[in-house]
Amino acid sequence: LSSIFVDISGVEVGTQISVMFLGKPVFIRRRTQEEIDEARAVDLAELPDGVARNANKGEVDASDENRSMDEAGEWLVMMGVCTHLGCVPLGDAGDFHGWFCPCHGSHYDTAGRIRKGPAPENLPVPVAEFIDANTLKLG
Ligand code: FES
Repeated sequence: LSSIFVDISGVEVGTQISVMFLGKPVFIRRRTQEEIDEARAVDLAELPDGVARNANKGEVDASDENRSMDEAGEWLVMMGVCTHLGCVPLGDAGDFHGWFCPCHGSHYDTAGRIRKGPAPENLPVPVAEFIDANTLKLG
């Protein structure tokens, strides 16, 4: 099984990087407090997909705490592949200030959860862990 190590030391708050892992883009976003607060204020009953889709956590609900990498919620890591038909969503976009897939109009929130449009599931969180303060291991 292959893993990659990503240097995240240059990622500023409020920005993201995209890296290729196993042939697919992975978004690594360092969220602002506003983005975190917005994601944590959502009533889970409003979510079209109530499952976290986090490979690191098993079958748990889609709370922001269950999708983000760290307790404070600063880091969000997920596959950059729309769960509808696989296009790459755009960041800082859409009605919920997260990601927007222009192919058929799916809107994801600041936790990468599907909120509106044809995509059936939240953007999946891959196996990932912090090795140290500057290094994220994928896989
Ligand atoms: Fe994203 Fe269809 S592939 S909305």
